[in-house]
Amino acid sequence: MAAGCDAVYEGRPGGHARSGPTSATTGGVSGTMDTVGQVGQAEQGRQRKPATAARMYDYYLGGVHNFPADREAAERIIAQFPLFPAVARENRAFLHRVVRHLAGAGVRQFLDIGSGIPTVGNVHEIVQAEVPDARVVYVDIDPVAVAESLEILEGNDLAIAIRADLCDPQRILEHPQVRELLDFEQPIALLLAAVLHFVPDDAKAYEVVGRLVDALPPGSYLAISAAAAESFAPSGAQTQAVIDVYRQRTTTSAASRTKSKMVRFFAGLELVAPGVVWLYQWPDPERALPDPFGGDATRCGEWAGLGRKE
Ligand SMILES: C[S@@+](CC[C@H](N)C(=O)[O-])C[C@H]1O[C@@H](n2cnc3c(N)ncnc32)[C@H](O)[C@@H]1O
Repeated sequence: MAAGCDAVYEGRPGGHARSGPTSATTGGVSGTMDTVGQVGQAEQGRQRKPATAARMYDYYLGGVHNFPADREAAERIIAQFPLFPAVARENRAFLHRVVRHLAGAGVRQFLDIGSGIPTVGNVHEIVQAEVPDARVVYVDIDPVAVAESLEILEGNDLAIAIRADLCDPQRILEHPQVRELLDFEQPIALLLAAVLHFVPDDAKAYEVVGRLVDALPPGSYLAISAAAAESFAPSGAQTQAVIDVYRQRTTTSAASRTKSKMVRFFAGLELVAPGVVWLYQWPDPERALPDPFGGDATRCGEWAGLGRKE
């Protein structure tokens, strides 16, 4: 299986992609697929591009930054796993909780890699509402995600978005804008939410996370959520169908990992309670989340955890 890091993305960083009408209010599960008849030629050209993981995720979340190819690919996955949009929403809810937890713990700098297309409750909005001078760097391989992030960050001097590959951590760490905004002498929260399953090769994934964590000073944190092999059994026909959709229709390969493989990402860090758990079990101090998966935790789809560097 090709590594997710080999992805080649079409599009232009800094450009803008606006789709035609979408099923934005449907939560990505149902509703009308749009036609290209209502948009201009340039837009139609962009709509013929292959699907991307970022825009498919936007669709699961009910966003508007997706094209017909993304929606078609996403619907194929939803046909295999109807809970996919619920998993995406749970993932987002975990991200919000962990970011609020980190802001409460005094973290003032956030490096969010695989940050995705902006949607409700972006990291900078959550942290800067509580700590106005908090700094946020968004990193994504997808030009649409970066372009849309740059658009909403206009006028915000304390948050930036850059286009880079998680699998090239040195480039991220040495990026002049990253160095300018983040102080690597002060704690930084490294957020890897729903991105490591796009680095299917275990050795590469551990190496990349290790190199990023090594660059962080003591008091920093690592937050991870990623697809669970206990939910998406690697040998299962449905899982294979999902992997095939990503491999054939996007430039991103995907793979799930067991809980023990997930725990290994936190080697050398102190795991914050309750450790690596199902997404919805990661605690929420303000509200008790109901179990959205009908008592069957394996339907949850992703493991989540937070570690602290001593
Ligand atoms: C499922 S979305 C998660 C978005 C956000 N982190 C969240 O949890 O809501 C995964 C994102 O990771 C990005 N991505 C995938 N492979 C990547 C890589 N090698 N480097 C950087 N970003 C990557 C995709 O473009 C997409 O925007």
